[in-house]
Amino acid sequence: MGKHGKKHKGTATSKPRRLRQEAAGGGDELPSSAYDLPPPDSQEEEQEEEEEEEEEVELEEEANGGTLSKFHLYQKSVQSPKGDISYLQKFFLTYVGGRFPLHLQEDFCGTALLSSEWLRSDSRRTAVGLDLDFEALNWCLENNLTKVGTDGYSRIRLYHGNVLQPQEARIVKSTLHDSMRTVDLDDQDDSSEPVEHCTSRVPSTMEEAVLPSRDIICAFNYSCCCLQRRADLLLYFKHVLRTLSRKGGIFVMDLYGGTSSERKLRLQRRFSNFTYFWEQAEFDIISRRTRISLHFHLGRKKILHAFSYDWRLWSLPEIKDCLEEAGFQSVHFWIREMPNTQESRNSEEYNGSRDVKYEEMSSFEQLDAWNAYVVGVANV
Ligand SMILES: C[S@@+](CC[C@H](N)C(=O)[O-])C[C@H]1O[C@@H](n2cnc3c(N)ncnc32)[C@H](O)[C@@H]1O
Repeated sequence: MGKHGKKHKGTATSKPRRLRQEAAGGGDELPSSAYDLPPPDSQEEEQEEEEEEEEEVELEEEANGGTLSKFHLYQKSVQSPKGDISYLQKFFLTYVGGRFPLHLQEDFCGTALLSSEWLRSDSRRTAVGLDLDFEALNWCLENNLTKVGTDGYSRIRLYHGNVLQPQEARIVKSTLHDSMRTVDLDDQDDSSEPVEHCTSRVPSTMEEAVLPSRDIICAFNYSCCCLQRRADLLLYFKHVLRTLSRKGGIFVMDLYGGTSSERKLRLQRRFSNFTYFWEQAEFDIISRRTRISLHFHLGRKKILHAFSYDWRLWSLPEIKDCLEEAGFQSVHFWIREMPNTQESRNSEEYNGSRDVKYEEMSSFEQLDAWNAYVVGVANV
């Protein structure tokens, strides 16, 4: 983890079978996750560094003012939406193609940072975010969407609810949102601009809403591990498939694994003004359950268990079986090796390598730590 990680080295035990090294367009940035933080894209490096400096100042100000947000620390520590978006585009163009992806749904979206960045990346883009955490969704409205520009609110819908009952999820409104001009996210032609009009009523549930069918649905930062029963995972994948565009779409989720993922583990990454800790409790090999806690230390101030998850660590073949059973046409694995967690340097400071890209694999021998994108392709 970390932006200044040492260069990745292959291991003797690793004999991955590469299917595709570089697919269509872009994709130089590495995405982030709890295990992984990418470097900025070279072209945008300066601008991004400036933004990061601003964020660090904001963080310091928040810390000094005593109004520190755990969401801000989380986003800084484990997310890098630009990297994820470049892979999402690459996957879409590789497996669907024929059009530019415009409509995203981010399930388990938390503060919907990825959706906010998606809107920033193209003015025609729309996003739908869905999460159980009302506080995180509201934080998005007040913090992430303010950076998108005035039309940001009109191109996104955030829903509070369960991914297992998406139709019942209720829209999260803010005063600001209500007063904004609202885009009719009617299922329009993908090439057209969204139609703006003033409206006083936004349908309150996802079932009532008329939304564009999604080109891409994603579930990142290992969120599918929140679903612990196979029946729930299957039900969720069926909902996803129904929501994707009939013209073809993809579902993308991430997963981590390796021998280090099946034992007690504590990793840390230092930032200029705080330290982030990933703590993994004992791993039950029968239920494949583990508890994950994220902590932050800001000098003497500590935010312990800022985020805690009870996860079932799914295996890649289990995910593939469920996606196929749900009706996805094909399933693809893009994997990267992560730095060895047992090297003494890593237990002190776990830094993801900036140079290692994800590659499509059909087989991959077990390692200490790896990260994967799983891509389910629908109706092409
Ligand atoms: C690990 S966080 C991921 C947040 C964000 N997607 C990211 O990339 O960092 C998991 C999120 O899933 C949400 N969540 C857990 N179970 C859910 C469910 N059944 N339906 C909707 N959201 C859920 C939690 O509230 C939390 O925000």
